[in-house]
Amino acid sequence: MADAFNLRIRPLTAAFGAEIEGIDTGSDLALETVQAIRAAWLRFGVLVFGGQTLDPAGHVAFTRRFGEPAVYTRTENACTGQPDVLVLSNVVIDGKPIGAATSGPYWHTDGHFLQCPPAGTLLYGKEVPPEGGDTCFVDMRAAYRALPVQLRTEINGSTFLMDRVQTLPFHYPERPVPPPAQKHRWPAMPQPVVRTHPETWANALYIGGIVPWRIAGLEPHRSDALMAQLHAIAFDEQRFGYRHRWRADDLLMWDNRSVVHRATAYDMARYRRLMCRTTIAGDLPSYALGKIDAAIDS
Ligand code: OGA
Ligand code: MN
Repeated sequence: MADAFNLRIRPLTAAFGAEIEGIDTGSDLALETVQAIRAAWLRFGVLVFGGQTLDPAGHVAFTRRFGEPAVYTRTENACTGQPDVLVLSNVVIDGKPIGAATSGPYWHTDGHFLQCPPAGTLLYGKEVPPEGGDTCFVDMRAAYRALPVQLRTEINGSTFLMDRVQTLPFHYPERPVPPPAQKHRWPAMPQPVVRTHPETWANALYIGGIVPWRIAGLEPHRSDALMAQLHAIAFDEQRFGYRHRWRADDLLMWDNRSVVHRATAYDMARYRRLMCRTTIAGDLPSYALGKIDAAIDS
């Protein structure tokens, strides 16, 4: 059994992201190992485990060490026999796609349109293209801390409406436009612009998407200008980013409350990409206290 003292944590950038070495995520893990991984996940936001051998059952078992697996969309792309695993792939067998071909080609946090979005996502790369198909991350805690104090004061405690039905045609122009009846399934969800992490109490910007979401209580022109300003500051990969170039058998585990991510393109006609994904159930996003900012700044 791997014990926590075999773990090596290698930071990937100066600010966030870490590679965890010395662990087989498919094996039985001691409680202190799980606790060390959990602490690293909270601290670093994105964890990379290289060289893993995970079947779908093992992937779900590892996910369960951190919470309840959550399935919330595109059940047609679930793994056969393992409904908690979503398949992302361009592979087609007997004329039938084995998974979702595209997923998240814009900055987002998973399940943003849900009342209780997943706390974390575990993405396992079984087959990855030799070029392209990277997954990029931005640390939204660092982005939040970089905002001018006046801007922070303006957005702390405000909400915006996250509307999946309005979003889909922007983000996935290749998919059919959702019928208006979908509004019942995916009602617009109020989300905090600044989210306080329920475990670490760190504040993070909680925005994303190509659609300029409307901030409640602001005139449209003011809201659009503010969102554009936030996007311009936050989605700066040089300053706050980490780009993951996949090796086959990498497992990534990220914290949806601290980071946003996006998929990048690859040559789908030439290369295969086969990824398995689980998510960990999360809780109701909220903004807690302005006082926490003061603590960070002091
Ligand atoms: C996801 C996602 C990005 C990728 O699985 O939630 O956004 O690069 N994936 O596949
Ligand atoms: Mn995603």
